[in-house]
Amino acid sequence: MDRIEFSVNGRQYSVGADVDSDVSLNDYLRNVLNLRGTKYMCQEGGCGACIVAVTTVDQFGNKRTFSVNSCLVSITSCEGWEVTTVEGIGGRGRYHRVQKTLAEYNGSQCGYCSPGWVMSMYSLLEANNYKLTKDEIEKSFGSNTCRCTGYRPILDAFKSFAKDVPDIEDLSLCKDKACSSKYDDWCFIEEKTIEDKIKQINLKDGNVWYRVYKIEDVFEVIKTKGTNPYMLINGNTGKGVFPILRYPKILIDISSIDELKTYYIDQNLVIGAGMSITNVMDLFKEISEKKEEFKYLKKMYEHLELVAHIPVRNIGTVGGNLMLKHKHPIFPSDIFLLFEAVSATIAIRNDKEIVEMDLQKFLSTDMSGKILTEIKLPPLSSNYHFVSFKIMPRSQNAPAQINAAFLYELDRVKETVLSSTIVIGGLSVKFVHAQKTEDYLRGKKLFTNETLQAALRVLEKEIIVKEMKGYSKAEYRKKCALGLFYKVRKGSE
Ligand SMILES: Cc1cc2nc3c(=O)[nH]c(=O)nc-3n(C[C@H](O)[C@H](O)[C@H](O)COP(=O)(O)OP(=O)(O)OC[C@H]3O[C@@H](n4cnc5c(N)ncnc54)[C@H](O)[C@@H]3O)c2cc1C
Ligand code: FES
Ligand code: FES
Repeated sequence: MDRIEFSVNGRQYSVGADVDSDVSLNDYLRNVLNLRGTKYMCQEGGCGACIVAVTTVDQFGNKRTFSVNSCLVSITSCEGWEVTTVEGIGGRGRYHRVQKTLAEYNGSQCGYCSPGWVMSMYSLLEANNYKLTKDEIEKSFGSNTCRCTGYRPILDAFKSFAKDVPDIEDLSLCKDKACSSKYDDWCFIEEKTIEDKIKQINLKDGNVWYRVYKIEDVFEVIKTKGTNPYMLINGNTGKGVFPILRYPKILIDISSIDELKTYYIDQNLVIGAGMSITNVMDLFKEISEKKEEFKYLKKMYEHLELVAHIPVRNIGTVGGNLMLKHKHPIFPSDIFLLFEAVSATIAIRNDKEIVEMDLQKFLSTDMSGKILTEIKLPPLSSNYHFVSFKIMPRSQNAPAQINAAFLYELDRVKETVLSSTIVIGGLSVKFVHAQKTEDYLRGKKLFTNETLQAALRVLEKEIIVKEMKGYSKAEYRKKCALGLFYKVRKGSE
């Protein structure tokens, strides 16, 4: 009988028919392994109390350490993972330097949130070879909440790890030999040859978990499932936004399909739907610096920094995000917004063919028996001007109240608009493009007061805004959308 194998703090474990489909890594750590240092609170990826570090080998054979929210991860997703909890990095008499520093700076009061902060920081340091700037550190903790400290001492403690302060080894807090001993040798992962045979696990609750390694495997499983409902699972972070009250009978874990994680440039930049948001961000940063025609990806990178937070972006995929938008049109997906603004297309595969389509058509396409495989982002000449915005109730880790992306193709000589794309999210289920405003702007001088005023009137009339549960007042969101349109200025980047 197949089992899912993984390690926790260096010890090997496996699960199979002994677990239900809703057992998370957090449940397993706390209730089975009795490792109660890892806490939980929101169970939806919002508070960071449950964060642990994971080390895996990626599709290129590189070892990577990253943070995850253990409340979002199914234990059956942990195949081949080396999980490290707070107990694994240090404890009484042998505290890790991250733990010691947090305490020395008074960054822990009731202590409930502290393991999550420690494991976030630890994973960040590991992921970046202990080379981080203060600014990078400051931006990296949207995942964690603390109700006692007011955050300042935590931030001060963690900023002391920045490479733009004295060398970490020179910090007096780190001179204690015991505090680094564990860190030095824990995380070596043996190179494993991953078996590419479908794994099937008949879970305790009667559901069946399949782990597949190739795209064709997905269709093979779907073929044998009969009339049973099924679900594809990648990072499984979607349940933090739209809770899954009951898992369907057939669960297909697609997170090991390497074909979904690759990218290439033909004329377009083609990215695999199974790439994590973190990997996509790294790619966007690199390509925008190297290729003039993809310079706009730098803007997208900056917008993606506002999507969720690092642990969610580490395992949450771009395909999973687009599918959330497909299933729940009310979801103000930032990824849909950005990709739609540049008229990205996607590839969808079933057992017979691959179909390409634009994102609007995708929203009304029946996805049963299909898998989203690729997203194609076009090159854009320097005549294009791309800007995007996200209005959030707080500066990190919050869904958009309104998000908007604008792409203007300009005649640089006449300073007129050749074409425009205006996408606004968070207004209503129906509203995606400001099509009438796009039409109105064609041939106009965009940045004159006259054009802007007239276009604003067109936009105001065509916006469809609805009161929606969990969102601010419709009138406020409408005003925001109009304000964002006005905010786009030539050279505003
Ligand atoms: C705390 C938190 C904050 C967030 N904040 C934001 C935000 O600010 N902006 C934003 O845009 N998003 C946000 N998200 C959403 C996040 O981006 C998505 O949860 C994530 O991208 C989903 O990817 P996944 O791999 O985890 O998908 P999963 O959860 O594994 O899957 C989601 C859905 O997609 C389907 N699916 C997955 N991959 C495929 C595929 N290749 N083909 C077909 N179907 C597939 C699954 O069957 C499932 O129905 C947030 C999420 C969390 C938990
Ligand atoms: S319990 Fe809150 S993020 Fe996991
Ligand atoms: S120290 Fe109490 S919640 Fe952070």
